[in-house]
Amino acid sequence: MTRFIDILTSQKATDRPAFWFMRQAGRYLPEYLEVRASCDGFLNLCYTPDKATEVTLQPIRRFDMDAAIIFSDILVIPHAMGMDVSFVKGEGPKLTPLTSQQDIEKLHTDETAICTHLQPVYNALRQTRTALPQDKALIGFAGAPWTLACYMLQGRGGNEFITAREYLYQNPQQASALIDRITDAVIIHLRAQIDAGADALQLFDSWAGLTPAPYLQACVIDPAIRIVAALRESHPQIPVIAFPRGIGAALGEYARQVKPAGISIDTNTPLATAAKAVEGLCAIQGNLDPLLLAADGDKAAAYVKEQMQMMKGVPYIVNLGHGIVPHTPIEHVERVCETIKSFQ
Ligand code: CP3
Repeated sequence: MTRFIDILTSQKATDRPAFWFMRQAGRYLPEYLEVRASCDGFLNLCYTPDKATEVTLQPIRRFDMDAAIIFSDILVIPHAMGMDVSFVKGEGPKLTPLTSQQDIEKLHTDETAICTHLQPVYNALRQTRTALPQDKALIGFAGAPWTLACYMLQGRGGNEFITAREYLYQNPQQASALIDRITDAVIIHLRAQIDAGADALQLFDSWAGLTPAPYLQACVIDPAIRIVAALRESHPQIPVIAFPRGIGAALGEYARQVKPAGISIDTNTPLATAAKAVEGLCAIQGNLDPLLLAADGDKAAAYVKEQMQMMKGVPYIVNLGHGIVPHTPIEHVERVCETIKSFQ
């Protein structure tokens, strides 16, 4: 049993918190850039098991985190459902957007289509689990249906998703059918990741905070309830961490209804507020600001120390409030990791 899994399954505090960082494998690491340069495109890296395994292990070798997260992307699900997905240098993800009911109905949701397409990801999980020390956990993940729908309707990244949100207002039934189909695909992909060796899962709802309030239940909470319940039924021993980024005042309600083993807290929610909102419901993960980590290693370490002190007695996993940014100095990450490992 690993410290990370222990916190999530026992819901009890351990001697020190477990830690890992969202986007811990990535462009701030020179060894990642080297592997990345050898690949013809980002998706190609995700679908080449030897390389995906290598970059998954890189941050663990350097910083000795308690968990590795498999190197992949949330957009492999739209890709497996039959959409065109590409990553354009400097511009982020590009998809041919869904614009009609026919587009939505054409998406693949059958297990064979999804799992055949994503076989390289499962092979990378198998290889990583074999290579990873026993005391490190392996995290599988997926984008949550609302966040994936944002990219699939908008056709690109960004932080507003105006077309996607207008589509929801104009075609609520079609949007709901889309979210249902994505939910089916997410459950298939997460189950297959467990079967390939994932010890825990994280559901990334990066754009939960953009959901219009009248649709929060239908677009964010209900699909997460369905996903967590389906996994608990088929794989009761595997903990799921939910990351409803930007959910704000609805955090407690989300935790009560979804019942994840852990909840990841974004940068805008004070950890003390989050701890109160979900007390007794699940473990807490978060919420160092990736920009503080990039800006000032000493201040980032002091913040983490203060949070660890405050969270004593609470089942707590140190992490960022969002993904690590590419210009983060490696020394800052080292400094924070040392602070966590020497905490008592
Ligand atoms: O180390 C890890 O955390 C595992 C790998 C991982 C990646 N993406 C690798 C990646 C994970 C867990 C993700 C999740 C992901 N992908 C999310 C949810 C988390 C969040 O940040 O909100 C989202 C929204 C995406 C979609 C995505 N992928 C975008 C918007 C981009 C472009 C933005 C950017 O940073 O360039 C990506 C590309 C991406 N995914 C990179 C990495 C390392 C950079 C691509 C490259 O190296 O060229």
